Amino acid sequence: QSVYVLNGPNLNLLGTRDPGTYGTQTLADIETLCAQVVDNLGFQLDFRQSNHEGELLDWIHEAGRAVISGDSIGVVLNAGAYTHTSVALADAISGISVPTIEVHISNVHARETFRHHSYLSPVAAGVIVGLGAHGYEAGIRALAHLAQS
Ligand code: DQA
Repeated sequence: QSVYVLNGPNLNLLGTRDPGTYGTQTLADIETLCAQVVDNLGFQLDFRQSNHEGELLDWIHEAGRAVISGDSIGVVLNAGAYTHTSVALADAISGISVPTIEVHISNVHARETFRHHSYLSPVAAGVIVGLGAHGYEAGIRALAHLAQS
């Protein structure tokens, strides 16, 4: 069984993008961390990034099918700025019975007001903000916990 870790727009720039807010870890560093955690839990990792909303939608639908078929336990999703704009992503998450953990590297509530609202939080199984890359690890562990209960 796999764990989907999906990343949205601009997260490919991690490492050089506003390091005061996002730290210096690259997305490849976060993938390495996720791979270790997933491996230790006995699952496989499907780690992806896209700057395109429709591609993220397709991947969430794919993850939903994989959960139904027993091939996946759910999604850790950092949707980047689409978090604050995308009704379509919220509809995708609520349209499939996939547990989705919403993750943000930064504490969005300590930042600009437009980052305080998430279209995704009401339909996510849980939300993790402000813990940097550790948030991804916490999200993966939460999915494993949900899969057991
Ligand atoms: C982010 C927070 C978003 O507000 C922002 O648009 C991002 C990254 C985070 O991980 O902290 O792109 O999702």
